[in-house]
Amino acid sequence: MQHILNQYQTVTEACVKTWFKVGVTEDFPENSGACIKYKTKQIAVYNFARISKWYACQNVCPHKMEMVLSLGMIGDKNGIPKVACPMHKKNFSLEDGSQLGGDDLKIATYPVKIKDGNVYIGFID
Ligand code: FES
Repeated sequence: MQHILNQYQTVTEACVKTWFKVGVTEDFPENSGACIKYKTKQIAVYNFARISKWYACQNVCPHKMEMVLSLGMIGDKNGIPKVACPMHKKNFSLEDGSQLGGDDLKIATYPVKIKDGNVYIGFID
């Protein structure tokens, strides 16, 4: 199981090597998630229109290794944008991937860039 998680590491905007185009903004439902594939990775992408922000993170939930986070409800907890896993409702910060109010689980997050109506996600490989 660990090998699945090992391929996901948080990427900061400053260290992006590849901005990968994943579609146009209209491809992504507002205030909801969608899943894209980059190489061997499944990445959840959220068009958080309510706060005019976009987020991306690993699609696999580190709790039971289910590929489901793109299906999770997004919202906020104490002002922190978050996604709730649809399986057992663990909450993860979309800002830094930390689990909010729970175990020491963490998800990888990725920068999202919108340019000329296109959606790009930043990777380091
Ligand atoms: S699989 Fe995500 S909370 Fe259990």
